[in-house]
Amino acid sequence: MTAVAIDGPAGAGKSTVARAVAHRLGYSYLDTGALYRAVALAAIERGVDPTDEAALESVAVDLDVILSDGRVMLNGRDVTDRLRDPDVTRIVSTVAAHPRVRAALLERQRTLARSGDVVMEGRDIGSTVLPDADVKVFLTASETERARRRAEQAGLPTDEASIERLRDEIAARDRADATRDVSPLIHAPDATLVDTSELTVDEVVDRIVDAVRAVERAAS
Ligand code: CDP
Repeated sequence: MTAVAIDGPAGAGKSTVARAVAHRLGYSYLDTGALYRAVALAAIERGVDPTDEAALESVAVDLDVILSDGRVMLNGRDVTDRLRDPDVTRIVSTVAAHPRVRAALLERQRTLARSGDVVMEGRDIGSTVLPDADVKVFLTASETERARRRAEQAGLPTDEASIERLRDEIAARDRADATRDVSPLIHAPDATLVDTSELTVDEVVDRIVDAVRAVERAAS
């Protein structure tokens, strides 16, 4: 069983790259951000305050979520697009910073990873969730480039003022993710750093697929 961990800040291209790598290798693709976003959405729908750790822990423990083929089902309902709405994005880092929320989702993520060959994407996969992953990559890109990509992906305006606003939002979320006490967003020392600012998606995917094939060859 081979596990590929892809971590990095918002808008670095993790989802696009991780999905393409999984497709090329015939592995399954797991977006762990979707789990945190699903907890945030369930909290909004149940009127739970994003600072109420105990209440959020029970939301996370009870979470009826299924990740399948890049779609996310919450309580049997397809919420894939809803999870990217601004109200969810606004609170997700606050929700994800609670140690008890993270603990509740940790075993779930490990169980998902045990189901076969996987590409798992998030913030703390190489450092905490799958420290023994066979290939670890930390993807990044300049803040402006990440904001530009995020705007394009979401169909938002790409004029300078809009990009600047988005860049500030992304920087604030990265700061929250990188400075929390438990499992912060970090570049694990054994993860390969790939700055994607000047690379095409195909170039990044090729690099990661090559690294995985090298590991598979070495193991066979
Ligand atoms: O796709 P995007 O980069 O906007 O974010 P995401 O992967 O959907 O993750 C949303 C948020 O969930 C992050 O900003 C983190 O606060 C949290 N998260 C986390 O704490 N740990 C993970 N392994 C994945 C996401």
